[in-house]
Amino acid sequence: MIKKCLFPVAGYGTRFLPATKAMPKEMLPILDKPLVQYGVEEAVAAGLTEIGFVTGRGKRSIEDHFDVSYELEHQIAGTGKEQALAGIRELIDQCTFSYTRQINMRGLGDAILKGRTIIGDEPFAVVLADDLCLGADDGAGDGVLKQMVGLYNQFRCSIVAIEEVPADQTHAYGVIAGEAISDQLYRVTDMVEKPAPDKAPSNLAIIGRYILTPDIFELIEATPPGKNGELQITDALLAQAKRGCVMAYKFSGRRFDCGSVGGYVEATNYYYQKKYGGGVEQ
Ligand code: UTP
Repeated sequence: MIKKCLFPVAGYGTRFLPATKAMPKEMLPILDKPLVQYGVEEAVAAGLTEIGFVTGRGKRSIEDHFDVSYELEHQIAGTGKEQALAGIRELIDQCTFSYTRQINMRGLGDAILKGRTIIGDEPFAVVLADDLCLGADDGAGDGVLKQMVGLYNQFRCSIVAIEEVPADQTHAYGVIAGEAISDQLYRVTDMVEKPAPDKAPSNLAIIGRYILTPDIFELIEATPPGKNGELQITDALLAQAKRGCVMAYKFSGRRFDCGSVGGYVEATNYYYQKKYGGGVEQ
């Protein structure tokens, strides 16, 4: 059974500078809630309540967010504003939170490897909180992680979430080739990190949700630095796919790339419309 979910949050978030100079990208709000809280809510909805963060310099506000703030709570006690903290309070009560640091930002593969001290020797999920995912049926159905945990229970191997992207966008993603098992499921046969459109094996791009079996750690350790001198998780996953099995899952739902300004604005507009129906919040 999967209980742990790892959040690599050590990246510099350069696409959001200067906003992310002293503030974590994962704390940017969509409406009134930071991106990382949406991610933790998705994990909890999938039954994953042992939350691990791989943090870095300047990310302390994430730790503070998942902790009580006695002064603030005392200040708003008995007022209508208490309700605004109910959601985060519930998460704090349901979950445990562990933190470790990535000292040098050597890529996602390296960040996940740093999470080994939190994960140990068990399968686990990974959430990149800047990919904001809405579950099936416009968010009314199962979240993406919950769908993937169901698949893991069936196949017992690593699973990456994928979505179709326009051909001119492949350079921004890890892209897979695979044998179709069903409409939504592929067995991975190849994986290329950030390929140019003419080098991409398909238009099926990996997004920020993974379920990984713990043998991934030795595979990352054995992986030489790839594109941009970073340790790429896709290289380790390809080794895993060649040795055994990695599945790619075209999830039901929708993803917003909130690591880019355009995707962030799109998500904000979408959630605003969904919550307030276009009316103005007072
Ligand atoms: P990104 O590729 O979005 O990089 O990382 P970034 O540094 O956060 O943002 P940009 O591209 O400079 O704007 C994907 C995820 O992996 C984490 C990031 O925090 C993000 O959640 N990450 C990336 C790490 O934790 N460590 C790294 O060394 C790199």
